[in-house]
Amino acid sequence: VADDAFLRALPKTELHLHLEGSLEPELMFALAARNGIQLPYQDVDQIRQAYNFTNLQSFLDIYYQCADVLRTEQDFYDLTWAYLQRCHDEGVVHIEPFFDPQTHTERGISMETVLDGISRALADGQQQLGISSGLILCFLRHLSEEAAFVTLEQAIPYLHLFIGVGLDSSELGNPPEKFAKVFAAAAELGLHRVAHAGEEGPIAYIEGALDILKVERIDHGVRCTDSEAMMDRLAAEGIPLTVCPLSNTRLKVYQHMSEHPILQLLQRGLCVTVNADDPAFFGGYLLANYQALADHLGMTCGQAAQLAANSIQASFISTEQKALLL
Ligand code: ADE
Ligand code: ZN
Repeated sequence: VADDAFLRALPKTELHLHLEGSLEPELMFALAARNGIQLPYQDVDQIRQAYNFTNLQSFLDIYYQCADVLRTEQDFYDLTWAYLQRCHDEGVVHIEPFFDPQTHTERGISMETVLDGISRALADGQQQLGISSGLILCFLRHLSEEAAFVTLEQAIPYLHLFIGVGLDSSELGNPPEKFAKVFAAAAELGLHRVAHAGEEGPIAYIEGALDILKVERIDHGVRCTDSEAMMDRLAAEGIPLTVCPLSNTRLKVYQHMSEHPILQLLQRGLCVTVNADDPAFFGGYLLANYQALADHLGMTCGQAAQLAANSIQASFISTEQKALLL
């Protein structure tokens, strides 16, 4: 079984991390004070007690509420910088984090404010910590495709600051085909494409993400276990899955980590990777996710090394840069 020191030393990338989901209660209170905002919680303990989720939506309701403390360019910088320091501590060498501009633009915060703060921190992360990155802009799928188009248009002046688009928020009832046109437009702009699919949603959503949105990776995708044919397809086509073990147990996709299928999918030849999703809400960053697999599934050093190598292979860095990291 892989131990802490081994897991920390492995060069790892993180490909499924929502920056807003890395907002720790301590920083949330500090930003609330700085911005003169009254939070509906007394203290950090009370916030953590509220993180008692029953499904994806019960989490999203609190997650969007907490993001309200993010107001200024410096707030987005501080959020991103805190995450980068965690990465540095944990042996994470490259990241492709998500941000949800609509969570902020809907509150009157400009795209420029959000992107300036995040990208200034990512540049410092490269310079001061040696962590490379490629930012991914996510559309909120509970909103309309029209709203996604407005968001993409607002981001066009900043195309140099992000590498791709994703799709997140409430999955059930918001199938991939709802966003067919805006993903085609993003592809035309030369952007990479990923989408959350098969977290709570059915096989048809994984299929739609692949065939209609033409995504290069599936975020979560764990429900592929419902279909032998889909697991065979994902393995044959080498489509990476960005799996988030602690998220899946905290959001009750699985009742206990011992039920998690990630190592069976690895054994079957799928390009599965380990990620933290929303670490401030789910009780652990990337290393804690690897550790949970060692603790509850008996993950070996060989399996851990393969998962970490998959995370490098599945990233959007160049073949040359991959060769340096592998
Ligand atoms: N936004 C943040 N985390 C998410 C998740 N796990 N699924 C869908 N949308 C999200
Ligand atoms: Zn996610």
